[in-house]
Amino acid sequence: MATITEIAPDVFRISTFVTAFNLQFNQFLVRDEEPLLFHTGLKALFPAVREAVATLIDPSLIRWIGFSHLEADECGSLREWQTIAPHATALCSLVGKLVSIDDCMAVRPAKGMLDGEVLTTGQFRFLFLSTPHVPHCWEAGMLFEEAQRVLFCSDLFHQNGDVEPMTDSDVIGRCRDALAEGQRGPLANYMPYSNQTDGILHRLAALQPKTLAAMHGAAYTGDGRKAMQELALAFKEILG
Ligand SMILES: [Fe+2]
Ligand SMILES: [Fe+2]
Repeated sequence: MATITEIAPDVFRISTFVTAFNLQFNQFLVRDEEPLLFHTGLKALFPAVREAVATLIDPSLIRWIGFSHLEADECGSLREWQTIAPHATALCSLVGKLVSIDDCMAVRPAKGMLDGEVLTTGQFRFLFLSTPHVPHCWEAGMLFEEAQRVLFCSDLFHQNGDVEPMTDSDVIGRCRDALAEGQRGPLANYMPYSNQTDGILHRLAALQPKTLAAMHGAAYTGDGRKAMQELALAFKEILG
């Protein structure tokens, strides 16, 4: 069963803890004139996520389905969502659209975003940031909601365990632990470290987000710039 938390006005975190992975999988629903779901969640979680969304809006009204990159937890149930929401369009990077999404994932053509492009859904404005290979995959991107300064940061700020939905205390320790633990196991090299990584993380920091909507773990509220700068340091140290 999913846990729903309003992490900013009309921004809902829908979270399911999967014991086998010791990991939360979070989707975010933004309630607006054109409702936006960020991350579809795994295909296996679709019934639970749909049920959770239905307590907030009519799921058939979802207009945008955003995600960072091609991976099951990001967009694995895209078809299922587009089947129940007849006007839902996938929202991803232009690279994602051209390379993978239109061919093998989406029911109808995706909206491929360029870096710096803005999508307005009613009261909210989403700035698209192209972040190739951050957290991973060529097509990676992120959305920054400008009115409330919420950064939908995908796998960045990954924390293991069944943690609290939101926190304003330091999460970097947990992120470091998760990265270091990951490097010791079969899922090592989760995130590449390239000559672009540090610059991309600092560019995200410069947005001065107030809320970091992480896919795995608690959403962080507070000084998002400082948290992102600290994450950049942890990445350099552990992955660099
Ligand atoms: Fe990922
Ligand atoms: Fe993920």
